Amino acid sequence: MLFQVLSSLLLTLTAGASSALLPRVDTPAPFNSSLFKDLNVSRGLNYHYYAVPADTGKPTLLFLHGFPSTSYDWRHQVAFFQDKGYGLLVPDMLGYGGTSKPLDPQLYVSSLVTRDIIDILDAESIEQAVVVAHDWGSQTASRLANYFPERFLSYAFLAVGYFTPTSFATPYEENLNLSKAVLGYENFGYWDFFSSEGADQTILDHFDSFWDLFYTNDTTKTITDFSPLGAYEAFITNDTRIPPVDYVTPEERAIQMEAIRQGGLAAPLNWYKIVRGTLEGQDDKGIPQENALIHSPVFFGVALRDYGSVSAPTFLAGALVSSNSTVTVREYNSGHWVQMAFPDEVNGDLLQWIEGLGLDQGVYKFY
Ligand SMILES: *[C@@H]1O[C@H](CO)[C@@H](O)[C@H](O)[C@H]1NC(C)=O
Ligand SMILES: *[C@@H]1O[C@H](CO)[C@@H](O)[C@H](O)[C@H]1NC(C)=O
Ligand SMILES: *[C@@H]1O[C@H](CO)[C@@H](O)[C@H](O)[C@H]1NC(C)=O
Ligand SMILES: *[C@@H]1O[C@H](CO)[C@@H](O)[C@H](O)[C@H]1NC(C)=O
Ligand SMILES: *[C@@H]1O[C@H](CO)[C@@H](O)[C@H](O)[C@H]1NC(C)=O
Ligand SMILES: *[C@@H]1O[C@H](CO)[C@@H](O)[C@H](O)[C@H]1NC(C)=O
Repeated sequence: MLFQVLSSLLLTLTAGASSALLPRVDTPAPFNSSLFKDLNVSRGLNYHYYAVPADTGKPTLLFLHGFPSTSYDWRHQVAFFQDKGYGLLVPDMLGYGGTSKPLDPQLYVSSLVTRDIIDILDAESIEQAVVVAHDWGSQTASRLANYFPERFLSYAFLAVGYFTPTSFATPYEENLNLSKAVLGYENFGYWDFFSSEGADQTILDHFDSFWDLFYTNDTTKTITDFSPLGAYEAFITNDTRIPPVDYVTPEERAIQMEAIRQGGLAAPLNWYKIVRGTLEGQDDKGIPQENALIHSPVFFGVALRDYGSVSAPTFLAGALVSSNSTVTVREYNSGHWVQMAFPDEVNGDLLQWIEGLGLDQGVYKFY
């Protein structure tokens, strides 16, 4: 029943179709510091990324992180797949880490960010890659499938699934009302705070509280303190503290927080501004109609306790209706950060899926 309600929410949401560089935090093991690179992409922005060349016969995996993160989000996957000879490309996404941090939200729309990612593939002479994406990285992965399908072998979405070309066509206020009607609270109410003037400083002023709520094991807090309009801001300006998750060590937490603190939040929050307003919705009108469906294999890692993404049922339905290829679904008893909370399971499932794609038979190409 809940599934049906959420599926119809999804269908409604998708109606119409079914700068200057800042100092860096040294990235510790399992990253090999000599394998980080910088690229001046075609629009003149710098991208900082981790690049491991593939062993002969192995494909390259492109990992796309979300908010508020850097390439370090993928430490467990990097450790696992680089030992197995897979090629790896792990960028700091626009606004984060060693990558440029422009303040103009217009520079963050998908048609531009996907071009940047393709520039990285070109610079590395990778004709086709396997995408693994999480959170807003899934938005970029979706648009890579829409704009550059010939460059990707398959798409793995973790926690946050495929965004159809019309996912951001509905005005924000309408979606808020819809989610309130269906779920009883505004599922994306925090976008309003995140995209508001001065939110970057408010967050930094209450950074521990902010981080606690993003990384809590009690993910029902999402429903009460994270998602509803005004709730996140009230939680952090009160400096509310809650216990941290146990799958991120205190050292790892310090590295993650320092990377974000150094770069600030003004640039990263643009990922919310483009969807809170109309920039992404407008930009998505340029998606070729014939590329609305994904024609390559899809993996969807469902985070069963990620209430913020309403992820399980809605994105699952999205993947199923939006793919014209095979969809592999794996479920984890996880909150949002499934790649950190269940690294062994996620890595094993991704490996099995990648091996099962038959890429070793020379289906993929290099320049
Ligand atoms: C890091 O990468 C460099 C360049 O490929 C290599 O020479 C070095 O052995 C690597 N270090 C480790 C610890 O793997
Ligand atoms: C990046 O490339 C652009 C041309 O695309 C050039 O104008 C700019 O100077 C380059 N920036 C750096 C830092 O090399
Ligand atoms: C959303 O709901 C509020 C309160 O019921 C209402 O005032 C507003 O007009 C609605 N907005 C949209 C875009 O539906
Ligand atoms: C995290 O929450 C899940 C689900 O409520 C529970 O099974 C697990 O034991 C919790 N872990 C910790 C460390 O509290
Ligand atoms: C504010 O902090 C107090 C004390 O830690 C706590 O009991 C209360 O629930 C917090 N309120 C909010 C909105 O987080
Ligand atoms: C789906 O894929 C099949 C086989 O590749 C193809 O024949 C069919 O035209 C595709 N359908 C759409 C709607 O693209």
